[in-house]
Amino acid sequence: MTRSTKCWAVVPAAGVGKRMNADRPKQYLELAGKTVIEHTLSRLLQADVFAAIAVAISPEDPYWPELELSTHKNIVTAAGGKERADSVLSALTAIRATASDEDWVLVHDAARPCITSADIHHLIDTLNRGDVGGILALPSHDTLKSVQEPRIIGTLDRKHIWRALTPQMFRYGLLKNALEVAAGNPSITDEASALELQGLQPNIVEGRPDNIKITRPEDLALAQFYLEQQYLEEQNQ
Ligand code: C5P
Repeated sequence: MTRSTKCWAVVPAAGVGKRMNADRPKQYLELAGKTVIEHTLSRLLQADVFAAIAVAISPEDPYWPELELSTHKNIVTAAGGKERADSVLSALTAIRATASDEDWVLVHDAARPCITSADIHHLIDTLNRGDVGGILALPSHDTLKSVQEPRIIGTLDRKHIWRALTPQMFRYGLLKNALEVAAGNPSITDEASALELQGLQPNIVEGRPDNIKITRPEDLALAQFYLEQQYLEEQNQ
């Protein structure tokens, strides 16, 4: 059987981003003349590989309808949920009528505006022929400590420690089922962990270190720097 190579994007964007201490959710903060989420969605559209992008937005969000992209023909809006996994499930349900279980879904954080087309294509090209899927990730260069505050109780072997990024790429049916089974489990902080809970072993694909998640106020200046560097990189190609 030839397996599907069709790809959908899902963007959870219903978080409040408390750690930013801002007057609005972090995806609506301004970065180089646009909101963070506009950068993220533009990058996904630019990659030119998705049948559609399903975005999970909080039902009380007054900012989303103000953006021109909210009515883009390839962008579908879904109601976000209490946890990130609920938001992803809701976005998956929004494309249920047109997506098949065998199609690929790439879940990407709204708060990662520096994702490049090169990384998206690299992830898809590496995983396309496999079954389980996988995620962009980065090897850890720091020594990592296991802690029971305020004391260190162990040191992790960093040879085997990678930081999970997004996109995370899985088959529609497998992902939806894994998230439904994992519902309410607080240890499910990304899509891969829901599949791991089923005994599956998703692959890691090394991503670019500039694919940062906006989490704290200083991350905005760093993201702006990376966007400028990427622009220069493109000009020099
Ligand atoms: O809070 P954190 O940075 O881990 O959130 C990662 C992504 O998940 C963000 O893009 C955020 O908007 C989204 N999210 C969501 N629904 C929630 C919580 C987070 O869509 N209930």
